[in-house]
Amino acid sequence: MNLSRRIWLTGASSGIGQELARVLLAEGHCLVLSARRAGPLHAFARRYPGQVLVLPGDLADPAQVRSIGAAIESHWGALDSVILNAGTCEYIDSRHFEAALLERVLQTNLLAAGYCIEAALPLLRRGVRPHLVGIGSSVTWLPLPRAGAYGASKAALRYLLESLRLDLAGEGIDVTLVSPGFVDTPLTRRNDFPMPLRWPVDKAARHIARHLERRPLNINFPRSFTGALRLLSLLPARLQFALGRRMARAQIKEG
Ligand SMILES: NC(=O)c1ccc[n+]([C@@H]2O[C@H](COP(=O)([O-])OP(=O)(O)OC[C@H]3O[C@@H](n4cnc5c(N)ncnc54)[C@H](OP(=O)(O)O)[C@@H]3O)[C@@H](O)[C@H]2O)c1
Repeated sequence: MNLSRRIWLTGASSGIGQELARVLLAEGHCLVLSARRAGPLHAFARRYPGQVLVLPGDLADPAQVRSIGAAIESHWGALDSVILNAGTCEYIDSRHFEAALLERVLQTNLLAAGYCIEAALPLLRRGVRPHLVGIGSSVTWLPLPRAGAYGASKAALRYLLESLRLDLAGEGIDVTLVSPGFVDTPLTRRNDFPMPLRWPVDKAARHIARHLERRPLNINFPRSFTGALRLLSLLPARLQFALGRRMARAQIKEG
């Protein structure tokens, strides 16, 4: 059974978010779509009359997120699901370490999620079988070269959601953490290193949507990739370090 749900999906102007929107709309759900670029959101929404509410904004700005929350409240009065997908990635150059880079990535991947959760929780409490979903990353299982800011933001998001899951369980709000490996999107097309087992974005979106229905604690994919990372995370620290150094040297050679 697939009853229509009222879902707020962030980061819907490209990549995984846009593709997930397509799948969820085809399943008959009603969506609020948010991202900074209003143009792609409106162009997309025109194909689904009556099913989509476009509420653009910079989610790293708490005031804008509060306005989006207020607009959802006045249109729908409640939310059944929130999918925190908006995110960014920047790589650290340790020769010119910039705290501002860390700040930008944490602002988008962690604090923006916090602003959205603050806006969404009162609406979820009025929703049907409420579900809070966050898109994390498989990077959190293993330290990878140059990924310090991105990995830190996603590790923090993981902890936030796993801890909130305990706090919200008593209220009947389920929390699912999605941890993808590599997916082919504008975000990863900028990467200059090999990305094993990279999934096409439509396959990733279908996989997420299919599993969300069962509302598991975690959705990890591709299984072989995330399984390998989790096994490597069990290695002694010295071996993990040696492996990471090898990857870092290979990236310098390729770069
Ligand atoms: N692709 C992968 O391999 C992969 C792997 C693991 C996890 N992830 C995670 O999956 C999520 C989606 O990534 P993607 O690969 O689909 O990247 P993408 O194509 O670059 O999409 C990112 C989305 O986030 C939105 N966004 C970024 N900053 C925002 C802000 N301050 N306020 C509002 N919206 C913002 C972007 O829209 P605007 O630019 O219009 O604001 C865009 O819609 C991210 O959280 C990413 O970390 C991706």
